[in-house]
Amino acid sequence: MEATLISADDIKTKIDELAARIDADYADREPLLVGVLKGAVMFMSDLARALSRPSEMEFMACSSYGSSTTSSGVVRILKDLDRDVTGRDILIVEDIIDSGLTLSWLLKNLQARNPRSVEVVALLRKPDAVKVQVPVKYVGFEIPNEFVVGYGLDYAERYRDLPYIGRLKPSVYA
Ligand code: XMP
Ligand code: MG
Repeated sequence: MEATLISADDIKTKIDELAARIDADYADREPLLVGVLKGAVMFMSDLARALSRPSEMEFMACSSYGSSTTSSGVVRILKDLDRDVTGRDILIVEDIIDSGLTLSWLLKNLQARNPRSVEVVALLRKPDAVKVQVPVKYVGFEIPNEFVVGYGLDYAERYRDLPYIGRLKPSVYA
């Protein structure tokens, strides 16, 4: 770990802002939160508690990264949803959008299941994400193109438990 990029307090403030927007947008609907394991776990649990309206939770696990730090573009479902989402208002909860490849694949996959709507909330977005056109309605922080860890994000399964987002020293993964 090198330095804190986003403090625990700043994460909390941002989640409250996102939750207020989501509350307003979903005033007449109950969103089905679909968390993408494992990175979104912390964000999902804090976001769900910050929403003032009820929501239900589902989880999916996809693989595109392994323990390396560059996107392969190949996505595999490791754990699928536990239920039918026909007619539901899905809100995908993502930790970070890097190339956007994982998310664009996931959006297509979920849209094919005939939900009423699919939107995305991502805590973090890197600049490379602009290369793949993925509509993301709610973004917490735009961050520089550096590998980050903490608050659910890992390097080789470590650092997920940090309460803040930190930069990883390039020497750790280079
Ligand atoms: P793509 O490139 O498909 O990748 O948008 C999204 C997934 O890649 C992982 N990812 C990271 N994980 N620190 C991490 O711990 C990072 O800086 C980082 N960048 C991308 C993450 O699993 C995300 O869902
Ligand atoms: Mg990872």
